[in-house]
Amino acid sequence: MNNPHKKIILAPSLLSCDFANIGKQLSIIREAGAQYLHLDVMDGVFVPNISFGQPLIKSLRQNCDLIFDVHLMIVQPERYIDDFVAAGADIITIHAESTEKCRETLSYIRSKGIKSAVSVKPKTPVSAVFGLLDCCDMVLIMSVEPGFGGQKFMPDMLEKAKELKAEIARRNLNIDIEMDGGIDASNARRCVEAGVNILVAGSSVFGKPDIAAAVKSILNAAEGNA
Ligand code: DX5
Ligand code: ZN
Repeated sequence: MNNPHKKIILAPSLLSCDFANIGKQLSIIREAGAQYLHLDVMDGVFVPNISFGQPLIKSLRQNCDLIFDVHLMIVQPERYIDDFVAAGADIITIHAESTEKCRETLSYIRSKGIKSAVSVKPKTPVSAVFGLLDCCDMVLIMSVEPGFGGQKFMPDMLEKAKELKAEIARRNLNIDIEMDGGIDASNARRCVEAGVNILVAGSSVFGKPDIAAAVKSILNAAEGNA
């Protein structure tokens, strides 16, 4: 199932970083081999938690050249696409469950010259987004209930990645598969084997005393070297 043409990418999630030392921590993960920065935007409505928004992202953009992978956990994300594009997002993910206007919003994101993605919560079947694959560059499969870092990985979600990978191959599309929630060096390889090529990791990176070593060990494990 693993697509040998897709490079494995690690996207550390800012949610678990030390906010008093963001700049330093971002340099460390970049040097260690992380390619993306996953930015979890939460509104306290779509999920029961509030995180940060476009001002923080805009400010980080000034000194960071990682790919900004913005995961919107907000209701009616179509209201804020322009703001997150202006803040410097490279990829914007909206939730399939968060709006009636998925297709229009994904197409709008693409029209801004950045990548569009759609996400499914654990209880949403991945087939729910099959009708949107023509307007997506990436699908994000949640492997925890969205809202908080540090939760336990749900192995049943691997089946969704396999199902999605098969559909993408069947239709000969070029779409990245990202998995988010509870990922660490112990399950990264299983994600890749199921078809995932972008791994989000929050607490298993920023929660470790040696952040650089954590990035390297997850990437090594994902590549099957550990
Ligand atoms: C949860 C977020 C995740 C979270 C991952 O709603 O979407 O990106 O930060 O954190 P860990 O890797 O600790 O599960
Ligand atoms: Zn996320």
